[in-house]
Amino acid sequence: MLDGPMVVSRSNRRSRSSSCVRKLAGCARAFGCALWLVACVDYSTVEPDYATLRQAAQAKGKLIGTAVDGDLLRDDVQYATLLAQEFNAVTPENATKWEPLEPQDDKYEFSDADFIVEQALAQEQPVKGHVFAWHQQLPSWVEGITDAEELRVALREHIETTMERYRGKIMVWDVVNEAVDDNAPAGYRDNLFYQLLGPDYIEEVFVMAHEVDADALLYYNDYAIERMGHKAEFTYRMLRDLLERGVPIHGIGMQSHLAVHRYPAADDLRDNIRRFAELGLRVEISELDGRTSGLTGTLEQKYEAQRIAFQETMASCVLEPGCTGVTLWGFLDEHSWLNDEGEAEHGLIFDDNYEKKPGYFGVMNGLLGKLLKRGPTVIRNGDFDDGLDDWVDVDSTLRLESFDDQQSQVACAEERATNEAGLGQDDLVEAFADGGSFTFSAQVRQEGTAAAGMNVGLIVEQDGQDPTTISLGYLFADPGVWRTMRGSFALAWEAPPSSVRLSFSGPDPGVALCITQVTLNPLTPDPG
Ligand code: XIL
Repeated sequence: MLDGPMVVSRSNRRSRSSSCVRKLAGCARAFGCALWLVACVDYSTVEPDYATLRQAAQAKGKLIGTAVDGDLLRDDVQYATLLAQEFNAVTPENATKWEPLEPQDDKYEFSDADFIVEQALAQEQPVKGHVFAWHQQLPSWVEGITDAEELRVALREHIETTMERYRGKIMVWDVVNEAVDDNAPAGYRDNLFYQLLGPDYIEEVFVMAHEVDADALLYYNDYAIERMGHKAEFTYRMLRDLLERGVPIHGIGMQSHLAVHRYPAADDLRDNIRRFAELGLRVEISELDGRTSGLTGTLEQKYEAQRIAFQETMASCVLEPGCTGVTLWGFLDEHSWLNDEGEAEHGLIFDDNYEKKPGYFGVMNGLLGKLLKRGPTVIRNGDFDDGLDDWVDVDSTLRLESFDDQQSQVACAEERATNEAGLGQDDLVEAFADGGSFTFSAQVRQEGTAAAGMNVGLIVEQDGQDPTTISLGYLFADPGVWRTMRGSFALAWEAPPSSVRLSFSGPDPGVALCITQVTLNPLTPDPG
């Protein structure tokens, strides 16, 4: 897994060594020679410690960015200092959105955006502008437009004025944000642009932006496209088709507003990054944060789960050459947009005293390309080498099968009585008793006649209470095809469980559900 980036850095080192040796040989001045000596040390076995995220990112050739708030940058010296030290890229959190920039038709308020951009460039932090076509934070005068041509004119004027002003300063723009809606019949979000211009608005807006500034890199940005699922699939096909038609799209931002108790598995994220990169797109994790309220347990447990989620996500990017970097959606917990709904979400990497949280070190370790260590799988007989041993039917009949396209044997739950029926494995209390973070993978397939959803979850009993289901993963699949279902999750118990069952269920009653190659591994922090 570590092969790609290791090879790159090793070859860098080799070329550096030979030039070092030549320079050292001709070295005459004491101070200069000492510098060359430092430069020639072979770090191949020692991973250097970096004082800041920025230094680590620089060494790895990746961007570590953050969303920036203009008021905080103006008023809070500690904020400005951390921003300059820790980050090498900046996205204005709100200042370059349509509503703050042009609250009234042709009346612009550039002061916040100007300030953020000037400060960032002074700190040598490239800026990504965010965003032109989005259904939120639109000025009311735009929301009131009902005519297609009028909307086109408004878009063009807004994009021209904004991109002209920041030409050569903002070189990367989020052009379209959140245009895909998983639940909409056509797959496109039913926003103002879609309603008036149809799905072609996406193409139109990218073309407009490219006509204004042909040097700028233009991005599509969205949430919940990090994992290989239905929404990512739609987005992939949409961008592939647009690119095939020559539409100027250069990158994709996967927002990655994670919930630390359930988030995309590193392998899944990496496969997804890779396939978008293979389209020729730059891939960025564009708005990383980690909501903690979904995890019961102490603040310490939440912080630890978050540290692991951040490390897995950051390392996934660093290990994929097609991923340019990660932007955090802010860095001070206190000012995270996640808190807007009332509860403190502790979603970022510095606490209210500007102290580094465990999540900071997760990002740092991730920048060094370190995924968490995987403990041995807790699932017994996960590839059915021992027949159906250790597996139980849940209102179904289990059959052992073999498939040409699967190396291991397969268990199929047939004659399923309900949606919840399927198959499972019991006696997992010990594996989960202490809580912690885990990652799972399984091959799944359904034998119905139409696309259907499949679920994997833990059914947990705590003494004296009704069983509860903790959903670990969901996948919508066509019939008769094998799909990989993967995910990472964290558990913390208020009362320890008395029984835990891993369960697979999902499609309509009667539809057979088949699984194989089931693994579930603890993610164990490296004590070093
Ligand atoms: C959020 C900002 O962080 C908030 O301050 C603002 O009130 C609402 O928007 N996806 C995006 C971002 O693309 O622009 C959003 O930012 C968060 C979700």
